[in-house]
Amino acid sequence: MRTEKILVTGACGQIGTELVPALRAKYGPENVIASDRHLVTADLVKDGLYVKADVMNPVMLERVVNHSAITQIYHLAAVLSANGEQNPRQSWDLNMQSLLHVLEAARKRKHCRVFWPSSIAVFGKHCLPAFCAQHVPNQPATVYGISKAAGELWCQYYYDQYGLDVRSIRYPGLISHSAKAGGGTTDYAVDIFHQAIASGHYQCFLADNTLLPMLYMPDAVRAALELMDAPAADLSVRTSYNIWGLTFSPKELAGQIKQYLPGFNISYTPDFRQRIADSWPASINGHQSSKDWHWKYEFGLAEMAAEMLWHLGDEQLKKRVTAARAGLAGAPQPAGQEQWL
Ligand code: SER
Repeated sequence: MRTEKILVTGACGQIGTELVPALRAKYGPENVIASDRHLVTADLVKDGLYVKADVMNPVMLERVVNHSAITQIYHLAAVLSANGEQNPRQSWDLNMQSLLHVLEAARKRKHCRVFWPSSIAVFGKHCLPAFCAQHVPNQPATVYGISKAAGELWCQYYYDQYGLDVRSIRYPGLISHSAKAGGGTTDYAVDIFHQAIASGHYQCFLADNTLLPMLYMPDAVRAALELMDAPAADLSVRTSYNIWGLTFSPKELAGQIKQYLPGFNISYTPDFRQRIADSWPASINGHQSSKDWHWKYEFGLAEMAAEMLWHLGDEQLKKRVTAARAGLAGAPQPAGQEQWL
């Protein structure tokens, strides 16, 4: 079996913050190079190899890939939906050019597999609002969505033309206790926990009943690892896979938080991000990923909310969450429960 040598771009971002430690645990810290364009002093750097590299510079990228004999690239660097609307041309350039540089570097290297996250942002308002299918005419409404939709086609193209083993997931909103929100429309579902704990109040930029697809980060990380491990012959989608996950509204999430923080209150002041959310489906149909590589998510809404509060809370809140969860006799045990007890 060959030793995998892995490069992660955008390693300090929302997904990279949790994916890099998971990759290091799986492949060994000596085989995983985290990279970002910033010089950082985070745990990411202390715990393993780190290269300051800008994916917009193809020469530098290819040098890292060749010098370290990279066999897998996780290309995570991107500007998300809400931030992307502030500077559309620059976001397009970063999202598209960096993907093309990575695809080229992997193609030239040969036998180098690529993972690239796409997004529910590829869908537009003409898609079915619930259980949006894998193959639909998409017409995205944001520059982020346009770049992801075009990127998916480039992935398919590199697979068809050059046999490049590129794999992708259309991630929904991702919720993490260790990674900062990344400038996305779904990121209210991260901020709300921080504000609830810090001030007991959250002013939400989406309307109370806005349903969006979401996933807890440990599930998102596992999805990437499982897709990358799947036998190539089993994969029927080379654009990007829909995956099953959660669907909830800000009001439903606030209800979960109130169970542990009864004084918490939320107000709703929708802004430009409402238009973006309204153009996305409330849920997506992940049938093909279940069929091809057996995808199942583990964390439901209640488990995710309890874990978030436990991780972000002080000792008192941790005890309250642990006691409440232990009192749920007969309820299914959430994954990661052992961490609380
Ligand atoms: N989390 C992303 C965003 O809101 C969607 O993939 O931009």
